Amino acid sequence: MKILGIESSCDETAAAVVENGRHVLSNAIYSQIAKHRPYGGVVPEIASRNHVAKLPGIIEEALDAADESYESIDAIAVTYGPGLASSLLIGYSAAKTLAQRLNKPLIGVNHHEGHLHSVFMVEDPPAEADAFPMQGLLVSGGDSSMVLMKGPGQYEIIGSTIDDASGEALDKAAAILKLGYPGGPIIQRTAEGGNPNAIRFPRGLDSVDRGKWMYKYDRDLCFSFSGLKTSLLTHVKNLDHEPEGQELADIAASFQEAVADALATRVERAFERYEIKSFSCAGGVSLNKVLREKLTALSEKTGIRLLLCPPPLCTDNAAMIAGAAYEKVRLKKATEEPVDVNPNLRLADWE
Ligand code: KG4
Repeated sequence: MKILGIESSCDETAAAVVENGRHVLSNAIYSQIAKHRPYGGVVPEIASRNHVAKLPGIIEEALDAADESYESIDAIAVTYGPGLASSLLIGYSAAKTLAQRLNKPLIGVNHHEGHLHSVFMVEDPPAEADAFPMQGLLVSGGDSSMVLMKGPGQYEIIGSTIDDASGEALDKAAAILKLGYPGGPIIQRTAEGGNPNAIRFPRGLDSVDRGKWMYKYDRDLCFSFSGLKTSLLTHVKNLDHEPEGQELADIAASFQEAVADALATRVERAFERYEIKSFSCAGGVSLNKVLREKLTALSEKTGIRLLLCPPPLCTDNAAMIAGAAYEKVRLKKATEEPVDVNPNLRLADWE
């Protein structure tokens, strides 16, 4: 079964053709980063205008690269949330129009379940019985959470950030250090040759004073990155010069270490609370080298299998959307056409 996926939840305009949920026949992406860079972050109106301009060409590109046509695909999958309303609407309108015109099914996919599914889009994925229950670490520019999956489409959020997402923290750190946007890859590059232990930045929620806890998830499995960002800001303000060279590398390496350590520590804590067969990591921040090393070391220490998202599918893309849609079709669950976009869409079990 060949599914054309369409993704436009934020600032990537993407379309892909995926066969049987795993084989990525094409993965076309127009990244709008250059358009948003002057503003230091995503500007919703610029994002949606660029989706309008680029999506038709990106869909054609995905079909051409896969050597497929509108007629030869079996279904259309689209991200219908969460994300920016005005951006989601562009992809959704295009997908709905195509589905209607071509008389093909339209399958709605939650952007987060696309990320979570992406770890299975590899040559040799584990059998379901060996993968589930699985603990998924979802780390992107807009979200950082821990999701326990008893099976495909069965989600229980067991931990979450209580403020900034990990990618957002890296983006803000790069802005404080005047390094540019997006921050994750720049911080990683700047950190090369730096000492990750030069500065002890806070890991968030690791204070002994536990105070009153108002969130529904276990405090030990939650993240907080806003204090880390403030700590960096204070550190930089207290310097009487702009850091550069080795000093800058040390700061970037220490910041990156704090983010990766905070994430890996929560994953390890969850191992003590839940029986799992595997753990996974997906989303843009899962590209991070230090985070990958820490999770790989954790897998070696515990013997629990780690599923890492393939690098081309870590940041926003439409292949993961088509892949997750195929799972719904395969399991005959949650395939009903979405009637609207939902910018605040939550992960929900497939009925
Ligand atoms: O998954 P994604 O495309 O966005 C959302 O769905 O929100 O992830 C984008 C995020 C950005 O915050 C970016 O700085 C981060 O992923 N990122 C990285 C790396 N590459 C991208 N973070 C850490 N290390 C990287 N190498």
